[in-house]
Amino acid sequence: MTSKPNVPPTTTDAGIRAPSDEHSLTLGRDGPIVLNDHYLLEQMANFNRERIPERQPHAKGSGAFGYFECTADVSKYTLASCFQQGVKTETAMRFSTVAGERGSPDTWRDPRGFSVKFYTEDGNFDMVGNNTPIFFIRDPLKFQHFIRSQKRRADNGLRDHDMMWDFWTLSPESGHQVTYLMGDRGVPKNWREMNGYSSHTYMLINAEGEKFWVKFHFMTDVGNESGNAHLTQDEAVKKAGEDSDYHRRDLFNAIDEGNFPSWTLKWQVMPYEDAKTYRINPFDLTKVWPHGDYPLIEVGKLVLNANPVDWDTQIEQLAFEPNNMIPGIGLSPDKMLLARGFAYSDAHRARLGVNYKQIPVNVAKNAEVNSYSRAGAMRTVNAVDPVYAPNSYGGPAAQPVTGIEATFHADGDMVRQAYTLREDDDDVSQPRALINDVMDDEQRERFVSNVAGHLSDGVSENVLLRAFEYWKAIDAKIGERIEKMVRDKIGGKSTAPGMGSAKSTTDQATLGQAD
Ligand code: HEM
Repeated sequence: MTSKPNVPPTTTDAGIRAPSDEHSLTLGRDGPIVLNDHYLLEQMANFNRERIPERQPHAKGSGAFGYFECTADVSKYTLASCFQQGVKTETAMRFSTVAGERGSPDTWRDPRGFSVKFYTEDGNFDMVGNNTPIFFIRDPLKFQHFIRSQKRRADNGLRDHDMMWDFWTLSPESGHQVTYLMGDRGVPKNWREMNGYSSHTYMLINAEGEKFWVKFHFMTDVGNESGNAHLTQDEAVKKAGEDSDYHRRDLFNAIDEGNFPSWTLKWQVMPYEDAKTYRINPFDLTKVWPHGDYPLIEVGKLVLNANPVDWDTQIEQLAFEPNNMIPGIGLSPDKMLLARGFAYSDAHRARLGVNYKQIPVNVAKNAEVNSYSRAGAMRTVNAVDPVYAPNSYGGPAAQPVTGIEATFHADGDMVRQAYTLREDDDDVSQPRALINDVMDDEQRERFVSNVAGHLSDGVSENVLLRAFEYWKAIDAKIGERIEKMVRDKIGGKSTAPGMGSAKSTTDQATLGQAD
């Protein structure tokens, strides 16, 4: 047995000393390799299986670990264990872009994902948000179509501004989020200096069973006050070429150097009854709650202080799901949020396997897990008898704390209809206020230039005309500025073919079959 001081011997996955790091087993020194070189076979076979599928949306990202400390007494709103003053909870976080693939540049214009897993003593609580307080759509049936419009075309496999604007302009509820997207938040300077939001309205329940509605705001402690530190479009394009992992690198290096990013968690809390009569639908994901109506309340601090040691098992296999709600917090009647309650766990079962909650980073490590789930691919935890409930053999029995389930009142016939409109519900007032009242002159200038730049790149004339109307409906002057800048850039009418150039779907299908 040869030994090399100071380094452990290489072994196979079965713990058997590997015969060599360099030489395959061959028949004679210059002869062919042989099939009984199990170590070579293990190396080749494992390598072929190293890449797991990427997340459908939000494929590119990275993350780190830390803690959340509740610094304020918010027990009058919630009994959730991680929101009791002084309680410190371990956390995992992941940041991401939405539409790009796993290797795509960090600085492409896109909303950024902002996901936090709280490993509480009552089980894992996940807050899966974005760096914007609202979203493009308000009905989950449109989500898949929306994401497809942001990804790639069927024929040429390219991303396509024409289909993005085609979808957006046919979905006027997207105006608020597109305004954010084309503003500074569309390309944050880094992840440390950006804010994160639940975007959705959630429910809080206190120990007396009293219910409230809440929106989460994680305000960066590192960046400027508005959480708007950004790269300009030109800087972003340059960075995409120079260092496509720019944001991932920034986060890892900052934590490595002991420069720990942190966020102050603030809540907007709405009394349960207010939701019935508030002037805008408080569950409509395309709307913010004006801070004048529901001011921010400080809750605690989120800190990232540890990098992953194995990115693949700790970040790529990290699984967030909006249905992971612990006692004291719950979902709301937001149709998008309720659908997300299904979508993520289903995505994890497809991507990571049914037992994904046993992957160490997803284990509810600070809670007792006594579930009746058993068996299945890659199960590593032994099931114990009895394997059913109810039973008379001492197996776990459900023991909910009564009166605190996150339920809400609903009734009516089954319908397929948009939310009932309230007094101040429209698609244009909030984006108009964002452009005119929140952005300063320079931000507005960049916003107009970003929209015009985007629209000047491959958008067909028909869709362009709709886009000008879309912005004019939000603000006539802004719409005119955008129109003029686009016309100047492209020198008149658009010659981009859109999808008109593609053969009809029937032709394509026939071609496919003929092949
Ligand atoms: C990722 C579905 C809306 C934030 C995902 C994934 C799916 C999904 C299937 C991939 C999960 C995975 O493989 O790990 C949906 C559906 C939505 C919706 C069906 C609407 C009906 C939203 C909204 C937000 C959001 C409104 C933000 C407020 C995220 C984030 C991730 C993600 C941050 C990445 C999570 C991670 O870091 O692993 N979404 N989504 N999604 N989604 Fe959504």
